[in-house]
Amino acid sequence: MAGSTKIDYDRIAQEYARNRQVHPQVLRSLISGSQLNNTSRFLEVGCGTGNYLLALQQESGASAWGIDPSVEMREIARQRSPMLTILPGSAESLAFPTGYFDLVFSVDVIHHISRWEAYYHDAFRVLRQGGKICTVTDSEDIIRRRMPLSVYFPETIEIELSRYPRIAVLKSQMVNLGFIEIIEEIVERPYLLTDLRSFREKAFSSLHLISTEAFNRGLNRMELDLQEGPIQCVSRYMLLWGTKPE
Ligand SMILES: C[S@@+](CC[C@H](N)C(=O)[O-])C[C@H]1O[C@@H](n2cnc3c(N)ncnc32)[C@H](O)[C@@H]1O
Repeated sequence: MAGSTKIDYDRIAQEYARNRQVHPQVLRSLISGSQLNNTSRFLEVGCGTGNYLLALQQESGASAWGIDPSVEMREIARQRSPMLTILPGSAESLAFPTGYFDLVFSVDVIHHISRWEAYYHDAFRVLRQGGKICTVTDSEDIIRRRMPLSVYFPETIEIELSRYPRIAVLKSQMVNLGFIEIIEEIVERPYLLTDLRSFREKAFSSLHLISTEAFNRGLNRMELDLQEGPIQCVSRYMLLWGTKPE
């Protein structure tokens, strides 16, 4: 499906759930940056299979709400815990009361949102005064330096750069809407790759966007390198924070 940048999450939900886990440093930063407690309410936009939603709910004791347009992703999230409220919905239109949430966040979603300006606008509305927004995403630098994705599948780089909004653009949109205390935080986790299942199963959406030839070429190189021993990798994210003024 090279040439199209639409991912069918209904189709890949099972592979996604099997292969994608919470990034421990992202979770830690979400907890420390949001200061949720058991009287708080938070919303994950594009909650997918609910892995961050559940982890954050369990760590904070706060009430957890998640929305996602994909039926299959939502179904997996629902099965995780009755403590999670999972609803159909899209970022561009948040059907919640004004001032309802202490935290609105998204992980790996902003590049899927067709009108992210509308998302930030609505997020500002549904946050309480003093509430926080956090967009967990990849900056241009993170995309270019992804190891293993960009190294073994360099064809993903330009595709990713064309679909990820630039951090500077997101920041200026946030400023225009009135968000304050805009902070960029980078987290990283080095790890050793010993199992290629998540790559074979294309658990990373950009692998669905390159040609079969490019995919097979990268996978063959990974398999050869793995014969020499575990592959040293690093997983990085940027957390872009903002606060709705008191
Ligand atoms: C890469 S997954 C991330 C899922 C989850 N946040 C995680 O980190 O595991 C992207 C998710 O965004 C959802 N999505 C796509 N377009 C969206 C939109 N316009 N608004 C909200 N979610 C959207 C997809 O259905 C999918 O579940």
